[in-house]
Amino acid sequence: MAKQHIISRRMVLGGAASLLALIAADHSVARALARPRRQRAPHDARIERLIAQMTLEQKAGQLTLYADSNNFTIEEGAIPVNPTANNQARRDIIDKIGKGHLTGLFSGQGFNDAMALQRMAVEQAPLGIPLIFGGDVIHGFRTIFPVPIGEAASFDPELCARTARAAAVEATTHGIQWTFAPMVDVARDQRWGRVAEGAGEDPYLGSIIAAARVRGFQGPDLTADTSMLACPKHFAAYGGVQGGMDYNTVDIPETTLRETFLPPFRAAFNAGALTTMSAFNDIGGVPATANHHLLTGILRDEWGFSGLVVSDYTADWELVPHGFAADSRDAAKKSLMAGCDISMQSGLYLDHIPDLVRNGEVPMRVVDEAVRRVLRVKAAIGLFDNPYRSLDFAGTRARVGNADLHALAREGGRQSIVMLKNDDALLPLRKSGQKIALIGPFGADTRDLMGAWSIYPDFDQAVPVDVGLRSSIANPADLVVVKGCEVTAPIDGGIAAAVAAAHAADVVLLAIGESADMAGEAQSRVDIVVPPAQQALAEAVAATGKPIVILLRHGRALALHGAVKNAQAILATWFLGSQTGHAIADIIFGDHSPSGRLPVSFPQESGQQPYFYNHRNTGRAQTNPDEPSFRSRYREVSFAPLYPFGHGLTYGSVEYSATTVSSELLTQSGSVTVTCTLRNSGAQSVREVAQLYIHDKVASLTQPVRQLKGFEAITLAPGESRDVHFTLTADDLAFVNAQLQHVAEPGLFDIWIAPNAHGGTGAMLRLG
Ligand code: BGC
Repeated sequence: MAKQHIISRRMVLGGAASLLALIAADHSVARALARPRRQRAPHDARIERLIAQMTLEQKAGQLTLYADSNNFTIEEGAIPVNPTANNQARRDIIDKIGKGHLTGLFSGQGFNDAMALQRMAVEQAPLGIPLIFGGDVIHGFRTIFPVPIGEAASFDPELCARTARAAAVEATTHGIQWTFAPMVDVARDQRWGRVAEGAGEDPYLGSIIAAARVRGFQGPDLTADTSMLACPKHFAAYGGVQGGMDYNTVDIPETTLRETFLPPFRAAFNAGALTTMSAFNDIGGVPATANHHLLTGILRDEWGFSGLVVSDYTADWELVPHGFAADSRDAAKKSLMAGCDISMQSGLYLDHIPDLVRNGEVPMRVVDEAVRRVLRVKAAIGLFDNPYRSLDFAGTRARVGNADLHALAREGGRQSIVMLKNDDALLPLRKSGQKIALIGPFGADTRDLMGAWSIYPDFDQAVPVDVGLRSSIANPADLVVVKGCEVTAPIDGGIAAAVAAAHAADVVLLAIGESADMAGEAQSRVDIVVPPAQQALAEAVAATGKPIVILLRHGRALALHGAVKNAQAILATWFLGSQTGHAIADIIFGDHSPSGRLPVSFPQESGQQPYFYNHRNTGRAQTNPDEPSFRSRYREVSFAPLYPFGHGLTYGSVEYSATTVSSELLTQSGSVTVTCTLRNSGAQSVREVAQLYIHDKVASLTQPVRQLKGFEAITLAPGESRDVHFTLTADDLAFVNAQLQHVAEPGLFDIWIAPNAHGGTGAMLRLG
């Protein structure tokens, strides 16, 4: 649905004129773009010749990826992104490259010696197969864009494509040809720390953004120096971990797998992704990395995916503690036979595949097929034509951390901010004539601006909140900054200083929430709340009676309480990256109206998790919060969010008319137009994100109370009215039935065009 969101390659490239200029300046890209496809060397024959010549050890080597331990420069105090399990000594890596026993390296902090290693692989090692260099470039390289969950709040796929493109242009200056991104896991439990890395709880939004990010990372030509191969991850259903606990088991029916967790992968592959990463979790007892149904049945046989599967970090070895493999050898066999082509970091394939084949336990054709997939991907990104692509760092400095990137990071930052609340139009603030107290642990920090998986950032270019605000106001002395407390601990005299600053101010900005290390891999939380030390600070400041704007920092939806929940204004600011301060100032002082929308529901309490807007009705749904017992609710709170999915305010005031349909009857082959008139009765021009939802009222499997099927952002000047149209076909009303068929069952549907998952006046549609 919503054709307007299909991003053409041209749009991705053309999104920022400045980026176009950047790319045009890169002559290798221009050359690659100019080269007609048919003139490229045909590699299939060469790949077959190589496979025929390779030893078993060399084949196993092509299926083996190691972290580049030489380049690890984990700063003191920084969070390691991976366990140090099985890190290889430098001499061992070099030895393996020399023998042709390694397919590539990842996680270098910029591969300074990549050229030399590649020369060794190509010119000295037998058969001369080029290495591939990978890394986790998730939301920027040196210039950091908003954490993916934040950027998803922009509801702007073009923006996501542009930041991904920009990240690729920057990261390829340091030899990273393959990124382990985008993370496309639908996340339905906010306790899970990895919510921060994805696009939230909705499969439709997740699919649109997954496709946009793939196009952005890869660009228009996979062989270009600035193209970064995408790796949608983690295949699959990692976002369904029980209890929101990382790495936990996933127990879902196949219908939910297909309806909720798989669509963003499909979208990413349709957008051209040639690799995917198997997930850590099991699904119903079968770990994803050894899940033949998933990696071969669905991925290859059903979808026709021709690319490669790489295991997550030691996920093949983890079959042993999972209790699915008896030992490393068994784990290697089960992973490979299931369809996992490359082993990341465990070394199991190199250790065991040769022997498994010699003993007849793994057929040679399975190994050959995996090697073929790997070599085809290497060919597809141009490594056989030019093994040194993206490895010549001379002359690439201008592509790093420049003004265009800063401008894009600032734009991305402000587009990601969601205004949850703005009582009495407290925001925007004036730029002069009022005293502002900026209070909280995130008022002046740089370390926590970036969020999870920003492993290569340039902290020197980071713009903290206080710097951004100060540069926007007329008199810098009007801003006073007080920390008040640490992220999780009080500071001696901190609250007293904060209260004094609040008393002396006209308005308080409270910069509170989660630190970067609280949201990300292995950072599941039991209580998704503002840490108690900060809550105490908020309560004390609120007692001054001064108007408060909460600048919430977070990598997930939080349950807000007390003075935080009751503040006059709340901005969800996630982790906005390098330009955080400027992006926040752009919104706070009204240079731009907020336009972000929640990609995750904000619950009332942690105990509501897992909570997602597209849940099913029960037989006893609570329709009225005052209704007494025997209803689906908790003793303490109703079964409703504090802020629903899709919610976000602007500085305008947009009214939605009732939704209308061009015909009340839709045939299986026809279409209807759904329309709503939006009117901005406010005083400021806004970008409004209109959302199309459906509900299948009666079906052979009960259907969610609402499902997003489209969205469109429109700009509305003060007083302006505009119609928003969506086209609906039977396919948009289809679901996966008990026989796993994608069917649109005849019957009645509710249809809404609404400002969020709870709003709007619906229309009725009958599917014939
Ligand atoms: C994560 C992946 C990541 C990999 C390599 C794993 O722990 O789950 O998302 O790509 O490490 O850094």
